[in-house]
Amino acid sequence: MPGRHLSLTWPQNHELVETLHGDVLPQLCQAAAGQEFLREAPLNIVIAAGRPGHAGAIRGARERYVCMEAGHAAQNIHLQAVAMGLGSAPIGAFDDEQVHAALKLPDEHWPLYIIPVGYPAE
Ligand SMILES: Cc1cc2nc3c(=O)[nH]c(=O)nc-3n(C[C@H](O)[C@H](O)[C@H](O)COP(=O)(O)O)c2cc1C
Repeated sequence: MPGRHLSLTWPQNHELVETLHGDVLPQLCQAAAGQEFLREAPLNIVIAAGRPGHAGAIRGARERYVCMEAGHAAQNIHLQAVAMGLGSAPIGAFDDEQVHAALKLPDEHWPLYIIPVGYPAE
């Protein structure tokens, strides 16, 4: 069932760790200005990065690398979706703190992007 599980990837270990049970899609959808297709997508990929100013975050001029990298990752997700005959959409209209709360992200994580992936409408 969509939205029942949330997994976080930890780049340090290259692993997926299940961190949350239950349907978080209503809260995620509300955090994203009520964009209903987030609730309908079988998969929503949320890209998060180190929150600016946090101890582990990239600092100074390189802070912009974070958004660039998120864009690169998102582009790859979109390309892979097309290659698999799926559809995806870049979603940036959301309240950062509401998404953070809905997904119970670690304090230092800053949500940058939501990418719903699913079967394209006929
Ligand atoms: C970074 C980024 C964030 C976006 N966020 C949203 C969004 O939150 N909601 C939305 O309806 N469209 C958003 N869009 C626009 C659409 O996802 C999409 O790009 C637009 O509808 C054109 O899509 P098409 O060329 O496949 O028709 C965003 C686009 C980009 C590049």
